[in-house]
Amino acid sequence: MPTPVEMFDLSGRVAVVTGASSGLGDGFARTLAAAGATVVAAARRADRLASLAADLPGLVPVECDITVPADRQRLVAVASEIDGGVDILVNNAGRPGPPDALTESAEEFDDILRVNLTSGFHLSVAAVNALPEGRGMSIVNISSVVGLVSTAPIGGAGYAASKSAVIGTTRELAGQWGRRGVRVNAVVPGWFDTEMTDGLFSNDKSAGWVRRNSMLGRGGRAGEVDGAVLFLASDASSYVTGHVLTVDGGWTAR
Ligand SMILES: NC(=O)c1ccc[n+]([C@@H]2O[C@H](COP(=O)([O-])OP(=O)(O)OC[C@H]3O[C@@H](n4cnc5c(N)ncnc54)[C@H](OP(=O)(O)O)[C@@H]3O)[C@@H](O)[C@H]2O)c1
Repeated sequence: MPTPVEMFDLSGRVAVVTGASSGLGDGFARTLAAAGATVVAAARRADRLASLAADLPGLVPVECDITVPADRQRLVAVASEIDGGVDILVNNAGRPGPPDALTESAEEFDDILRVNLTSGFHLSVAAVNALPEGRGMSIVNISSVVGLVSTAPIGGAGYAASKSAVIGTTRELAGQWGRRGVRVNAVVPGWFDTEMTDGLFSNDKSAGWVRRNSMLGRGGRAGEVDGAVLFLASDASSYVTGHVLTVDGGWTAR
């Protein structure tokens, strides 16, 4: 029986991380690789993935647009070729939306749902369908505090819809797939300084808004979501499914 510390070890596991070309996803890829996993890193920007692969020998970069069905199938096929199936899937790829509902077009609303919700769902289905009989898997979906509470004037209706639906889908799939050994959990990050939140932390007003509304009095620091993803990806969480783990400095506990 492995010790609780040994249960964080991902040696021999294959982990797919979408949106690994920047921000949180880059960190997740580095952390899962450091824990021993063979990481398959997916995103559209091949140059960024190549830089990540240069830092992490053994990482498998896959240029792909997760909204394209053929790209999702190819991603699962490449990852499954390594050791017969995907052990860990981190559905992290995402895009922001416009903050003002009155000027958010129907096309943009749909596109936000397609990137943040629908593509991750279809990728999960493809990965589970490709699993050999009896092989388990851990799926970690990246939601947002915007999926739990209103964060107006920052956030956006399409973005909020996508991120709260990620939580609903997480619970539903956990229920459908638990008995086949597939765990499905969600991580809810608070505010982190990435390309997606560009300007939020460099602007005194919005940076102050983040500090005032966080119980810890600050935004998240690089790497502070990684432990939650590692926990849910690994056997350390072997009896955890359908869970929503907030990593938000207390933003949603107020
Ligand atoms: N930063 C925060 O404060 C925060 C808070 C809560 C939740 N989140 C969530 O965390 C996740 C990561 O965001 P981030 O902050 O790290 O932002 P980011 O640096 O902008 O990363 C977004 C990632 O998604 C990828 N992506 C977007 N559209 C894609 C597509 N069609 N196909 C494949 N990849 C695609 C991007 O890669 P390419 O452009 O190379 O394709 C990029 O790697 C998102 O789901 C976001 O909603 C972030």
